[in-house]
Amino acid sequence: MTGAHVLTTNPAGPASATDGVADPRLDTTHGPILYLEDITVSFDGFRALNQLTLYINDGELRCIIGPNGAGKTTMMDVITGKTRPDRGTAFFGQIIDLLELDEPAIAQAGIGRKFQKPSVFEELSVFENLELAMRTDKRTWPTLFAKLNGQQRDDIEDVLHTIGLPEQRRQRAGSLSHGQKQWLEIGMLLMQRPKLLLVDEPVAGMTHQETERTAELLLSLAGKHSVVVVEHDMEFVRSIARKVTVLHEGSVLTEGSMDEVQQDQRVIEVYLGA
Ligand SMILES: Nc1ncnc2c1ncn2[C@@H]1O[C@H](COP(=O)(O)OP(=O)(O)OP(=O)(O)O)[C@@H](O)[C@H]1O
Ligand SMILES: [Mg+2]
Repeated sequence: MTGAHVLTTNPAGPASATDGVADPRLDTTHGPILYLEDITVSFDGFRALNQLTLYINDGELRCIIGPNGAGKTTMMDVITGKTRPDRGTAFFGQIIDLLELDEPAIAQAGIGRKFQKPSVFEELSVFENLELAMRTDKRTWPTLFAKLNGQQRDDIEDVLHTIGLPEQRRQRAGSLSHGQKQWLEIGMLLMQRPKLLLVDEPVAGMTHQETERTAELLLSLAGKHSVVVVEHDMEFVRSIARKVTVLHEGSVLTEGSMDEVQQDQRVIEVYLGA
């Protein structure tokens, strides 16, 4: 690790927590921020991913759909270092080889992952949860127990507004609704300043209104961040989708606009057969 990892601010200029402050080696000048090529993952001979090739552009919001068992979560496991592929390559930008990094190093390089189950600290307030998330960011210095400086307070305030919980800042996280907890967890991820956010089934269990607000939140993150969303709720996907990738049996079946993929005969067959 280089000394750049403990900088509090982006060497390129003043940073806000909602901007990405990534590994200085992150090079997206060719467009993509994520390159997955020919990735195969086998579990006891069964190919959960089968020569998967997928590119995500810097700043884009990509939706990934596909029937149960298509390999969507396994793909996220590969990107975050939880699962090692049998073969293939995975790069974060041009230079950073994800297959050479372990899970903490990948998180530190600027890839954040939101799991389905919220894991907020129920006894702490909303604000304290965000503060804690910031302090576990190795790039923030000094860390635990130091008084927050103005910039850090501003960063937390920015995230509180981004996730729509400024009025709940003093509320105990355990008392939030399911949807609010999910937004708080997205906020905790944002405190780590990821460049790429992976979100697996964000609206499962949410009310209709919470689902709509989640759509707005994810849309607001695109541009500053690249966001990959896996979701089964097609109405939700339609409301946020630009480009949709359909996974099936561990490979990309097709990619395109929501209308294009929904009219694709192969996609219809895969879903009817699922
Ligand atoms: N650790 C594991 N050991 C064995 N098989 C696994 C493991 N993880 C995933 N699989 C299998 O790999 C396939 C792909 O699973 P994955 O969880 O990636 O699918 P998914 O697209 O996320 O499905 P869902 O929409 O149901 O979440 C499935 O058949 C699953 O049973
Ligand atoms: Mg899954």
